[in-house]
Amino acid sequence: MNNFTIAIVAALSATAYGFRCTNLTVPVSLSARNVVFNITTPQNNVEVTNLILDLTRQGGSFVEQRVQGYAAVHGNYSLAATYCTPDEHGPDGSNRKRPLDAVQILTHGLGFDRSYWDLPYNGGNYSYSAVATNKHGYATLSWDRLGVGMSSHGEPINEIQAWLEVDAQVRQGAPLYALTAMYPDISDGIALTGFSQNGSFVPYFALGANFVDVKTIPLLAPQYDHGYLATGDLSAFQANFLGPEQFDPAILAFAATIGQPLAIGEILTIGSEIASLNTFRGPVLVVTGEYDVPFCGGSCYNGASPNSSIPAQSQQYWTNTSISTVIVPGAGHALNLEYSHPSTYKSINEFFGQIDKA
Ligand SMILES: *[C@@H]1O[C@H](CO)[C@@H](O)[C@H](O)[C@H]1NC(C)=O
Ligand SMILES: *[C@@H]1O[C@H](CO)[C@@H](O)[C@H](O)[C@H]1NC(C)=O
Ligand SMILES: *[C@@H]1O[C@H](CO)[C@@H](O)[C@H](O)[C@H]1NC(C)=O
Ligand SMILES: *[C@@H]1O[C@H](CO)[C@@H](O)[C@H](O)[C@H]1NC(C)=O
Ligand SMILES: *[C@@H]1O[C@H](CO)[C@@H](O)[C@H](O)[C@H]1NC(C)=O
Ligand SMILES: *[C@@H]1O[C@H](CO)[C@@H](O)[C@H](O)[C@H]1NC(C)=O
Ligand SMILES: *[C@@H]1O[C@H](CO)[C@@H](O)[C@H](O)[C@H]1NC(C)=O
Repeated sequence: MNNFTIAIVAALSATAYGFRCTNLTVPVSLSARNVVFNITTPQNNVEVTNLILDLTRQGGSFVEQRVQGYAAVHGNYSLAATYCTPDEHGPDGSNRKRPLDAVQILTHGLGFDRSYWDLPYNGGNYSYSAVATNKHGYATLSWDRLGVGMSSHGEPINEIQAWLEVDAQVRQGAPLYALTAMYPDISDGIALTGFSQNGSFVPYFALGANFVDVKTIPLLAPQYDHGYLATGDLSAFQANFLGPEQFDPAILAFAATIGQPLAIGEILTIGSEIASLNTFRGPVLVVTGEYDVPFCGGSCYNGASPNSSIPAQSQQYWTNTSISTVIVPGAGHALNLEYSHPSTYKSINEFFGQIDKA
């Protein structure tokens, strides 16, 4: 599983909060059985919107109709990652070096890259990595998913799909949902954030994003081809990612500087990834914002009691373990960008802390 080589491309450097990070480039050879779609790559915003309308039509079967077959995809790619460890000295100069017994592997979601876990905002106050390393003593490894950020990009419809992403996660050792479904013994514990297994609300997200051709976004156009879609404007970003009045309004403009596009192939294949059974045996935590749009349709309780929230209903897919659920009051999908982020970070690290003690 760990047969990859790591090329260190940047020296260790201290960050604002004192924890230390190294950037890595990990070459990987990946293969997967991908779907071949008969879909023409949209070349402008009108074609992007037409495609989104085709995809989201209620009762529609556009995706099924466009499946032409399956094909083995093999390729050599590189994955960009950042490895962080706690500072050895506290602010008072005390030595707080402790053995690192666990690495948290941090995987970002659609629309972001690995900076999601260490947001360069408000002097480093929105950094999950800072909390996990300095406060809780873990090492963290965040990485850009295949197709995104500084990891290799690819053909956005038939190459960059959930299936090849899963193989990338295996090579990288990252515990995302589909990964644990295919390799149940890979991790000691999993925390899934902004998550449920109800795929009914993906159309809300796809329409809410006001998606545009990445080539119309000056910051992203040089790095991505047609077939990658970017969130259309700040209001679309707010609608999909942030709970009402639960965020610093200035973080919207900041989000525009870190937002990443997604590949059409990811949207086409995410549905089949969500609703699969999982035989993972270890502890699982699901942390989701009460008003998450893509995974709860804007209301995780939906009139139900706390224990049968939409994220809690994921239990039916975990055949060999009991999951715990935390619903973050008032929050939207992008938990790390909201005022509640300290309580989100605490829930996750306390969950991992329980595993260490067990
Ligand atoms: C790692 O790479 C990111 C993205 O390019 C950059 O923002 C960051 O400063 C780099 N960190 C180090 C420690 O070099
Ligand atoms: C692909 O879809 C187009 C309609 O957009 C259809 O005319 C064509 O026959 C399809 N090709 C294949 C090989 O299914
Ligand atoms: C990947 O790299 C290896 C080693 O350099 C090479 O043997 C192999 O042919 C490459 N695979 C592809 C699909 O390019
Ligand atoms: C980070 O948050 C704390 C607590 O809210 C605040 O006191 C501090 O000024 C913030 N730091 C920066 C750099 O904004
Ligand atoms: C998704 O949630 C909605 C609202 O609670 C519910 O009606 C629907 O049955 C759920 N679908 C799945 C697949 O769980
Ligand atoms: C809800 O779940 C918690 C923790 O799993 C449990 O302690 C509590 O009794 C449950 N409440 C109900 C009403 O089932
Ligand atoms: C999951 O549980 C089933 C039924 O108890 C068992 O047959 C199976 O071996 C378990 N799988 C794993 C990976 O533990």
